[in-house]
Amino acid sequence: MNFDLQKIVRENVKNLTPYSSARKEFSGAAQIFLDANENSFGSPLAQNYNRYPDPSQTEIKKKVAQLHNIKPCEIFVGNGSDEAIDLLFRIFCRPQIDNVLICPPTYGMYEVSAAINDVTVQRANLTEDFGFDLNAIQSSIDENTKLLFICSPNNPTGNSFDREKILRVVETFGGIVIIDEAYIHFSREQSFVSEINNFPNLVVLQTFSKAWGLAGLRVGLALANEEIITLFNKVKPPYNVSEIAQQAILRALENKSQAEKTIAEIIEERERLIKRLQKLSCVKKVYPSDANFVLVKTTAAEKIYKFLLAEKIVVRNRNNVELCAGCLRITIGTSEENDNLLEAISKI
Ligand SMILES: Cc1ncc(COP(=O)(O)O)c(C=O)c1O
Repeated sequence: MNFDLQKIVRENVKNLTPYSSARKEFSGAAQIFLDANENSFGSPLAQNYNRYPDPSQTEIKKKVAQLHNIKPCEIFVGNGSDEAIDLLFRIFCRPQIDNVLICPPTYGMYEVSAAINDVTVQRANLTEDFGFDLNAIQSSIDENTKLLFICSPNNPTGNSFDREKILRVVETFGGIVIIDEAYIHFSREQSFVSEINNFPNLVVLQTFSKAWGLAGLRVGLALANEEIITLFNKVKPPYNVSEIAQQAILRALENKSQAEKTIAEIIEERERLIKRLQKLSCVKKVYPSDANFVLVKTTAAEKIYKFLLAEKIVVRNRNNVELCAGCLRITIGTSEENDNLLEAISKI
């Protein structure tokens, strides 16, 4: 592989002097903080939030590092993994010059972030059976392709991609390969986090929004070698993860078994829902899932979607997405929610 990180980073990012926050310049024990223009009186409405949060999310990184057996300097903590996606564009892609590669159907934010950053998207569609098309990927790459997004398990198809094929792409691509593992905890496959020091161009994304059940906090992770993470830290807003979010994430990390229990329950519900859906006459196919949702090919997606809405149940209509004609994406709910869904669909 011909990969040189310094060659693919945007010049303005290389030359950037990052914002130096008051809280970052000071370390040690002080009692009176008059350095950050905070309000020392605080607010009686939400106590203990008058101070800026830790800009480096030190405690979270220590815990995540232990969890993955990596170093804190190999972790970026973002305002959702959506923030990490946006920062990747800002670090590596020159607007109107560079491009990125996605493998549709896939997570929609890669394309939205590209559009916001005025960066072109190349598309190497998955095969009919939602496999990775290595030839299409190779032929879509040019010298300005900076990022290659691989979502595994993939949203909305729910499958994981072949590990060897992914590794071949990481090995051969001269830009950054992003493996988005938002749904990895529901998967039978092994994470790629253990590979971050084997590949200088690998970024793994994970999130607290799915398996950890904390989407409302907006916290996601980018895991990569220290050189890449330093770039993330250089461009991120100084206080990008709120105090409430940091405290709640720490509590979650200290109670890992809680998340593990929920994951097991969701997987059990997923298998039950799949079996029940397969019996319905309006269902043509339920695709295998490594995630907390299932993609279901139906006889009449629009009609079923609207019927469910009238029953006050919202699923995701993917009928107009490439390779997903007739498909609805259904998130695995609680047992009761899934029963209500099944009961509603069986009325059709
Ligand atoms: C594949 C994928 N990546 C990332 C995200 C966003 O995660 P976050 O909530 O951490 O921004 C989602 C959300 O649905 C997703 O499906």
